[in-house]
Amino acid sequence: MKPFLIAPSILSADFARLGEEVENVLNAGADVVHFDVMDNHYVPNLTFGPMICEALRKYGITAPIDVHLMVKPVDDLIEKFADAGASYISFHPEASEHIDRSLQLIIDAGCKPGLVFNPATPLHYLDHVMDKLHHILIMSVNPGFGGQKFIPSTLDKVRAVKQRVLESGHDIRIEIDGGVKVDNIRAIAEAGADMFVAGSAIFSEPDYRAVIDDMRTELSR
Ligand code: DX5
Ligand code: ZN
Repeated sequence: MKPFLIAPSILSADFARLGEEVENVLNAGADVVHFDVMDNHYVPNLTFGPMICEALRKYGITAPIDVHLMVKPVDDLIEKFADAGASYISFHPEASEHIDRSLQLIIDAGCKPGLVFNPATPLHYLDHVMDKLHHILIMSVNPGFGGQKFIPSTLDKVRAVKQRVLESGHDIRIEIDGGVKVDNIRAIAEAGADMFVAGSAIFSEPDYRAVIDDMRTELSR
């Protein structure tokens, strides 16, 4: 069993104080910085690009930065994010014309690749690429906004992905993103996830450490 990773989504952070917010949430015990890139085309919202990722690195953030690309097209942003200091880069397979090529671009750029599945995206996109994946991200809300409600049927999807990962024999993390809270994180882990994105659950509270500690307590029960 892989160690559980908590990945706060900075989509819910105070953008006016972003460096400080990221530093605070890492000091509060977070493992990974989840970085939601939205293009107002693939998803109906607009966030930030490689310049902000680079700015966080220049500010002194050394933790892994988990770039979640909600963009179409995908490929031309991969190298830019790698140069900006991304650690992991994932994309939505239906947004790429050539999934294997996009994954290989991420690997060649020195980052760890992942594929992202919306609640209704079929898992057949995993066929033929399991050997390239570092992580599989299951969306438990429809992408575009923080603060949405967890869609319970996605737990079955996590179970199905876990099964596929086990059958493949590859060492692939399973990440969950959307509506993750203290009160559902244990059920999500039991379904097979080992990396947990949480935006509003953490950043809407004054004490980030208290939320992250509560999540870890739930995970270790
Ligand atoms: C949604 C993003 C998520 C989002 C999660 O498209 O991918 O990362 O910020 O936010 P919460 O935890 O508030 O659902
Ligand atoms: Zn995300």
